[in-house]
Amino acid sequence: MTSWLMLPAALRNACRPRSVQYGHAHGRSMDYIIRDATEADAGLLASLIRESFADVAERFGLTPENCPTHASNCTPEWIQSAFAKGVKYYLMQTPQGPVGCVALEHAETEVCYLERLAVLPPFRGHGFGKALVNHVVDRARELDMHRVEIGIISADARLREWYEKLGFSATTTAQFKHLPFEVTFMRKVLSPC
Ligand SMILES: CC(C)(COP(=O)(O)OP(=O)(O)OC[C@H]1O[C@@H](n2cnc3c(N)ncnc32)[C@H](O)[C@@H]1OP(=O)(O)O)[C@@H](O)C(=O)NCCC(=O)NCCS
Repeated sequence: MTSWLMLPAALRNACRPRSVQYGHAHGRSMDYIIRDATEADAGLLASLIRESFADVAERFGLTPENCPTHASNCTPEWIQSAFAKGVKYYLMQTPQGPVGCVALEHAETEVCYLERLAVLPPFRGHGFGKALVNHVVDRARELDMHRVEIGIISADARLREWYEKLGFSATTTAQFKHLPFEVTFMRKVLSPC
């Protein structure tokens, strides 16, 4: 049987459902779709997030004891309660299976948070992360948001530079009692106020 991934991209996009975006990462033969996730995906999302953030936890010495709320400890219940709060999740799928996800939280009237951006380690460097960020930015534009905000570990200079290349700028830093690291907030402005 011919799968949708074997169809030419133009044909796939011509008949795509609105909730699905097809793409081709970096021209490196890595087809993908990004689709709206549902509560039925909670287990899958939690495992993608846990596995993707495990190396972050290792690099910054984060454990379930010193940072229980870090994404490396994500459970399906966390995802379910996010859905209950109205957070939207998007799943990236390739012919090899699901490889990543991202969440969009509508925080204030004109502000969205990009959260839980995750790409499994073996699939990094193909443009999937960038495609997920752009997907959230596009959804935020559709919602007439003024800006998209993120919070990252301040010491993660490589991640900060990556977000800067995607049009985000650092605004402030903060310390939180429950987090053993400083957080840098970054934002991408979508339109003038
Ligand atoms: C950040 C992340 C989503 C990028 O995903 P990706 O699919 O590799 O992203 P892209 O292919 O679009 O871009 C790759 C670039 O990301 C940069 N990058 C930033 N942080 C990185 C990291 N922790 N690991 C690998 N690459 C990273 C690389 O320098 C690479 O640059 P290059 O293309 O010039 O070589 C992925 O590394 C990840 O899941 N990291 C762990 C979770 C995390 O930190 N999420 C963000 C929380 S705010």
